[in-house]
Amino acid sequence: MEHLTGIAELSGAEIIELLDRAADAKKRLLARKKTETLKGRSVAMLFYENSTRTKLSFEEAAKYLGADVYGLAVASSSVQKGESLVDTGRTLDALQTDIVVIRHSLSGVPIFLKKHVSASIVNAGDGMREHPTQALLDFLTMRERFGDFRGLNVTILGDVRHSRVARSNIIGLSRLGANVTVSGPGTLVPQEIAALSCQIEPDMTESVRRADVIMGLRLQTERQQSALIPSLQEYNKIYGITEELLKNNARGAVILHPGPVNRDVELAHGLVEAERSLIHTQVTNGVAVRMAVLEQIAESRFS
Ligand code: CP
Repeated sequence: MEHLTGIAELSGAEIIELLDRAADAKKRLLARKKTETLKGRSVAMLFYENSTRTKLSFEEAAKYLGADVYGLAVASSSVQKGESLVDTGRTLDALQTDIVVIRHSLSGVPIFLKKHVSASIVNAGDGMREHPTQALLDFLTMRERFGDFRGLNVTILGDVRHSRVARSNIIGLSRLGANVTVSGPGTLVPQEIAALSCQIEPDMTESVRRADVIMGLRLQTERQQSALIPSLQEYNKIYGITEELLKNNARGAVILHPGPVNRDVELAHGLVEAERSLIHTQVTNGVAVRMAVLEQIAESRFS
């Protein structure tokens, strides 16, 4: 693996291999044990879109592996003077960058950049297409709780239309043998999503009934060009994940959410810290998974 631009590039066996590696990386992380896997290598953070979790955890992961990490502050860079993405990429190559972690609002940018630079490209989320390391951290969190994916019922709720997290999860989970159901307002659940191997269940109550995992999605108001929901209050009333909705689930489903959470919009405030919520574990697992991805690239490219 020299690059990671999407879960779609990985077979089920390759995903499991990364999860095994991430489980080992998590032990080292929790023991505060650093390695020199990436000593002498540089990792650049190229974030054209805002991020808290992904950016910080990639930085932490790279530092745990001994890399030199630097970030381009896009807002104060020559991007603002009109520098093209390819020219920024070539500049990073000239600076001897080994790995570029990129987030961009346009779908497909990491694939495009991969064709124009020598550095390894890791997708930290591109538009509405893929967020592969988020999906991997979600899988690690599920595997820690349930052990196996075969027959696991995962329900993804909310703004599926704009969600790269949902797409990467559906692609990966179907390869791992899980059953994925999606639900939410008709305007935010495109029928085409079923082609990625998931069931669409228009009734939220039905969608959670047999779920082992309920994954809430952030309502992405910044990607909505037209009014797809009446108001945030009404969205919460009809489509919010609440204690009331969870009464319809008899399996004690755990709750995942990629963050950041719009509290009391897609997820009730109290459920974020509830015992069944694994949201904070997801963040820790994000560092472990990103260590695994960087290690795997280092093994493919530098050893
Ligand atoms: N889950 C996720 O991508 O969060 P950030 O936008 O904070 O990185």
